[in-house]
Amino acid sequence: MSIHIEAKKGEIAESVLLPGDPMRAKWIAETFLKDSFCYNDVRGMLGYTGTFNGKPVSVQGTGMGIPSALIYCHELINNYGVKNLIRVGTAGSYQPDVKLRDIVIAMAASSTSGINNTRFINADYSPTADFELFMKAAQYAQKHNIPIKAGNVLSADEFYGDDPESYKKWAKFGVLCVEMEAAGLYTIAAKFNVKALAILTISDSLVTKKETSADERESTFKAMIDIALNSLS
Ligand code: HPA
Repeated sequence: MSIHIEAKKGEIAESVLLPGDPMRAKWIAETFLKDSFCYNDVRGMLGYTGTFNGKPVSVQGTGMGIPSALIYCHELINNYGVKNLIRVGTAGSYQPDVKLRDIVIAMAASSTSGINNTRFINADYSPTADFELFMKAAQYAQKHNIPIKAGNVLSADEFYGDDPESYKKWAKFGVLCVEMEAAGLYTIAAKFNVKALAILTISDSLVTKKETSADERESTFKAMIDIALNSLS
């Protein structure tokens, strides 16, 4: 047991999918995994283990934002020996050609979070995807004709910023979309020498101000989970 996860040793698999929303963790376990069981209900942050293609896989909700996600990632890695972590979540598009329902794989994650400013004072650390997981995800998507985009994303600390135009600076420098956890995940994975990847689906656009319906979100979520689970083998 750790402070925020009540699983017994051995109940969490070496590979874990990480949705922000704990109800998504339940849905992923029920929809994609065989023989799944719930190992965590502390703070309602549901976690499940089951099998996919005969291999054990877990799904753990992380909550929203880097501070919350880092608590779960730290305990999964440090207390439960997790080696492969794949975030599966939503993001807001920063680019006209990154459309609603597109799947974006984060090669790197820029951030407005302070976690690396206090570590690497007066210097910038570049939180980066694990190359092997990235290649597997990209190759699986290509083989199955699932279109993806890949590049730099922004992990923001605030969902509700002050200036609706401030995204344009990031957009100008090629950042594809905004979410709230990838930079933290990539940093902690590097710290513990484990593998991490963030796969995102575009749920809304800061460019067009449009957003997806719940039904649309579910169907793209399925394609993203399909890529994530098949990147683990
Ligand atoms: N901002 C931050 N995170 C998000 C967004 C957004 O607009 N959309 C989905 N996740």
